Amino acid sequence: MTAPELTIADPDDAAGQAVFDDLIEADSRVEPRDWMPAAYRRTLVRQISQHAHSEIIGMQPEGNWITRAPSLQRKAILMAKVQDEAGHGLYLYSATQTLGITRDEMTQQLIDGKARYSSIFNYPTPTWADMGAIGWLVDGAAIVNQVPLCRCSYGPYARAMIRICKEESFHQRQGFEILLTLMQGTAAQRQMAQESVDRWYWPSLMMFGPPDDESPNSARSMAWKIKRFSNDDLRQRFIGMLVPQAEVLGITLPDPELAWDEDAQQWHTSPIDWNEFSEVLAGRGPMNAVRIQTRRDAHEGGAWVRAAAAEYARKQALRDAEVA
Ligand SMILES: [Fe+2]
Ligand SMILES: [Fe+2]
Repeated sequence: MTAPELTIADPDDAAGQAVFDDLIEADSRVEPRDWMPAAYRRTLVRQISQHAHSEIIGMQPEGNWITRAPSLQRKAILMAKVQDEAGHGLYLYSATQTLGITRDEMTQQLIDGKARYSSIFNYPTPTWADMGAIGWLVDGAAIVNQVPLCRCSYGPYARAMIRICKEESFHQRQGFEILLTLMQGTAAQRQMAQESVDRWYWPSLMMFGPPDDESPNSARSMAWKIKRFSNDDLRQRFIGMLVPQAEVLGITLPDPELAWDEDAQQWHTSPIDWNEFSEVLAGRGPMNAVRIQTRRDAHEGGAWVRAAAAEYARKQALRDAEVA
């Protein structure tokens, strides 16, 4: 697959910088052919490709349950959801390509274990309730993170996020509904739902990234209007969304200290185990190696499909040339 032609403008162009600053100031969108600072481009390539990888790797923990979903209806819903995630990955790889990196390069970085993706997908999914907890908590956190990205300053990313967010809200509701069904079931089912939320709750809070005072690149991303809210603000918003929903479910969020602090006007929580976060991010989570190996196998196993598609395209182009 070839990348679209893209001339990357001189990063030291002062006139370009002025136009760019005005665009950001006016809350307009930066488009692929516009001049942009080299660091802005690099930040976006990193962020959007990591986001794309997360969607693609994120298919694995749930893909694990497609053959074992408890009914035909559950299977159809889960398959649709996992397919949506593949689609999200594809929009986002396309958006990243507009910045001058090829899909092949991004794939190589991922299967070589050099690219990052959301650490949440390095946890296992041993029970059916995990399909509920992932939808409710992981897709729920994704929505809170991603809705502000619909207003991100880079046009192709912002536009991709609009459709993605609509689909994420369906994902969140289907997860909630799985948990609700379990919570209305037998004691064993209720226990399964609670146990799963106990495992996914803290990692889902970590999805917003380190605390603001330990997130050095955040300020610059906010100035560029890539990021609109800080990690801690988004985490707070997420907790505020979960608390009433947990009540409806009859599920206990596994934090005995969780309470609304009226003076600080924010949720008080127990300390988050950032050590666990950095371990998983560094590749030492429970499923990191399996996730990368599975992705590598799928890429290698799919080589013949890519070769056949390329050959078909070549023949098609020849035929078109003959007709012309
Ligand atoms: Fe997604
Ligand atoms: Fe999703």
